[in-house]
Amino acid sequence: MVHSSVSLVQEFLYPPDYQFNKKSLTQIKDLSEFDIAAILDHARKIASMNEAEQAHFKPLEGMTQINLFFENSTRTLASFELAGKRLGADVLNMAVGTSSVKKGETLIDTAVTLNAMKPDILVVRHQASGAADLLAQKVNCAVLNAGDGTHEHPTQALLDAFTIRQHFGKIARLTIAICGDILHSRVARSNIILLNAMGARVKIIAPKTLLPKHIEQLGCEVYTSLSEGLRDVDVVMALRLQTERMQGGFLPSVKEYYYYYGISHKTLELARPHAMVMHPGPANRGVEISSDLIDDTERSLVRKQVQNGVYMRQAILDLMTRYQSQEASPNNSIRHEVH
Ligand code: NCD
Repeated sequence: MVHSSVSLVQEFLYPPDYQFNKKSLTQIKDLSEFDIAAILDHARKIASMNEAEQAHFKPLEGMTQINLFFENSTRTLASFELAGKRLGADVLNMAVGTSSVKKGETLIDTAVTLNAMKPDILVVRHQASGAADLLAQKVNCAVLNAGDGTHEHPTQALLDAFTIRQHFGKIARLTIAICGDILHSRVARSNIILLNAMGARVKIIAPKTLLPKHIEQLGCEVYTSLSEGLRDVDVVMALRLQTERMQGGFLPSVKEYYYYYGISHKTLELARPHAMVMHPGPANRGVEISSDLIDDTERSLVRKQVQNGVYMRQAILDLMTRYQSQEASPNNSIRHEVH
């Protein structure tokens, strides 16, 4: 199937029955099951177009995307940059150091500064939970959360869901275990909310010290034993031990952590025979997951996650900016005076 004209591409990509109707995306919580399913469908179309190198599809041509990263990042930043460029946007990466400045001030100052640059979309990563929402209130352009503190990381959860659906053909009724440092993980929070919305059974596995209080209220079963937690599981998501967010004694030792909670070919046997492993990266090889399991494409979806990350971000950028252009509101101005 070759799409030779832009109109054909448009028809192929945009079913008339779905329109993303939000200016910004800062949390999965704001998406309905219908939104999630439509975003996954849109990403699938974009993926097939990318893989077939079919169409000239540059809906963000003439738009400016600023990637504003207050935290170190390699893969997520690269993924957003590539996604924006593939869609034709002018992409500016701004890595902002945070050590010497107060977080609130920096964010608001930055919002004012960026306003002068007239971006169409702002992709923000910040170490404070709620930072993306705060920014979204201060600017008129679209804001996309690339991870805020321990709150949410919506594009990661969407690309994970895309990868699960690509492999299993569905999400509903699968049993998915998220294992590791749940306490510090925005990926875990976004995934629990999304997977629940899509009808999966979600299990959390972690030592007590790495479990947030009341996490079960998000709709998951909580286990502190790996062998119990992995029973009947189709997907195991391993999470990085976020030592940079740990002060003091969360764990006796990394070696002991691997002994009790490490995901390897051996411990994967506790799950269903066809179970697959995932990891948002960057992985600590030999800490939360064995090195050979990550690289084993028969059992690991990690490479697929990275590949799908670009497609998913293309899909979201496209849907969000379409909404923005339809809104026809004066672009890029600070809504409220900032004092
Ligand atoms: C995750 C993040 O930043 O929250 N990584 C990512 O997006 N590539 C998970 C992590 O840092 O462990």
